[in-house]
Amino acid sequence: TFPNRVKIVEVGPRDGLQNEKNIVPTPVKIKLVDMLSEAGLPVIEATSFVSPKWVPQMADHTEVLKGIQKFPGISYPVLVPNWKGFEAAVAAGAKEVSVFGAASELFSQKNVNSSIEESFQRIDAISKAARAAGIPVRGYISCVLGCPYEGKISPAKVAEVSKRMYSMGCYEISLGDTIGVGTPGAMRDMLSAVMHEVPLAALAVHCHDTYGQALANTLMALQMGVTVVDSSVAGLGGCPYAQGASGNLATEDLVYMLAGLGIHTGVNIQKLLEAGDFICQALNRKSSSKVAQASCKL
Ligand code: HMG
Ligand code: MG
Repeated sequence: TFPNRVKIVEVGPRDGLQNEKNIVPTPVKIKLVDMLSEAGLPVIEATSFVSPKWVPQMADHTEVLKGIQKFPGISYPVLVPNWKGFEAAVAAGAKEVSVFGAASELFSQKNVNSSIEESFQRIDAISKAARAAGIPVRGYISCVLGCPYEGKISPAKVAEVSKRMYSMGCYEISLGDTIGVGTPGAMRDMLSAVMHEVPLAALAVHCHDTYGQALANTLMALQMGVTVVDSSVAGLGGCPYAQGASGNLATEDLVYMLAGLGIHTGVNIQKLLEAGDFICQALNRKSSSKVAQASCKL
């Protein structure tokens, strides 16, 4: 059985754009977020307050967050890697933040220049301050179905770090197949382990599509009771510290599948397709969404 409704977390403006080599003009980023708001996405990750030395593309985070229209009922979380990023996000008016950790020691080193332990200490400090300020915190775990540096990651390890992050006060844990190597079987095994430690209602899946499995992996998660799914308009995305990984599950493809299952998302697919066209034109590239590419219409 499937859920009646699914909450889609649109990560294109952050996960999608962070991987672009050429700097995207700030007004283009702002217009993308506004178009996604118009399309009815309930959560749009707007940017990230990471170090511009590490990810130059996100250096205009403050301008983006201040420049976007804030639609009532839509939340605009921003990614924060450390205390400095958290303070800057709050100063820029962030009403929600996302923290990120990993199930792989080597990936943690490459992505945030620290061990899993150190990164969790930072996350703990941010969570405490956020709670005191009434700011909800979403948590990501990377490499839940494999790591570019360590290879296989055990479901038990993913369950352990998910539990820890959840116990720090994150209201939702997004499980990231960072390099898109998972299959539905691996998703099932990993989720079975994590569900023992974190309530299902607090879990989200975040599938990259490198091996073409993102939609199938997401469907498996829905069948197991997950009701929150991350995706990216036009299938943009990737992580600068996971070379060769492709973009996220395309939001257009996810919305099409969910509509076919009769699952409510609140998203207007026509407006979503327009947002995808807009950003692909700006980036001068073809959409990775199959639905956007399709020319045969029912
Ligand atoms: P570090 O070099 O160890 O940090 O980086 P540091 O504290 O030594 O600072 C170095 C310099 O950066 C200093 O500047 C700091 O002030 C500055 P300097 O004194 O040399 O002039 N700095 C900052 N500036 C602005 N904002 C900040 C900030 N922090 C430091 N927040 C750090 C450690 C964590 C900062 C760095 O490694 C970093 O920013 N990493 C982020 C990498 C990243 O963005 N990865 C992609 C996002 S995660 C992802 O995509 C996965 C996900 O999608 C889920 C999935 O798919 O699995 C979420
Ligand atoms: Mg990602």
